[in-house]
Amino acid sequence: MFNVSKNENVKILLVVGSSRKGSYNQLIADYLRDKYGNIVDFRQADLKSLPVYSEDIENEDFPSVTKLREDVNWADGVLLLTPEHNFTMSVLMKNFIDWCSRVEHVLNGKPTMVTGATLGHLGTVMAQSHLRQALLSPGVKAIAVPNTEVYINAIQDRIKDGKLLEDKAESLNTAFINFIDYIKPGNGYCFSCN
Ligand SMILES: Cc1cc2nc3c(=O)[nH]c(=O)nc-3n(C[C@H](O)[C@H](O)[C@H](O)COP(=O)(O)O)c2cc1C
Repeated sequence: MFNVSKNENVKILLVVGSSRKGSYNQLIADYLRDKYGNIVDFRQADLKSLPVYSEDIENEDFPSVTKLREDVNWADGVLLLTPEHNFTMSVLMKNFIDWCSRVEHVLNGKPTMVTGATLGHLGTVMAQSHLRQALLSPGVKAIAVPNTEVYINAIQDRIKDGKLLEDKAESLNTAFINFIDYIKPGNGYCFSCN
């Protein structure tokens, strides 16, 4: 179904909707990068360099937008990690979606997983819900991969010495394995071996 050959690693683009120093969402992305780097080729989208989207500038040549489109086209799947800001996704994440929805519809048909981390109880449920809705909009038309939802609440209780604790990351790992299994079935990763 997707253009992934048997001996290649799955290619995942990480899209982290926070540029905050010490971002929890970045910590989650780094955890996955460290843990699955042997079977997944990761890149991270540079959201900070993107101009704020406006229809007036959407046809201009911005190296950051060109690079973003290249990165999305390179990926077999896109993993979006969003903070929740005022019950919705962060501005950085929304700006990413808007750039991907115009001129070149690079997310069209792209498998996506959405997650997000917060200090609060609800685990970014509203931000994720809005983000999933945007991913399915006519200009975006991404694929929301089933069984990949994970809401990471009380993130401060899941971390020790700046690292996500393995025993507090079970749902995240299950969701991520489901994601890469969807993109590349039989990828050879043995979850129970770790
Ligand atoms: C402007 C702003 C609004 C916020 N609104 C929410 C919210 O609606 N729900 C929530 O759970 N946390 C909210 N938070 C707290 C964020 O979840 C918290 O700052 C989190 O650490 C952001 O993710 P990051 O660490 O990846 O930057 C808000 C934070 C800011 C700065």
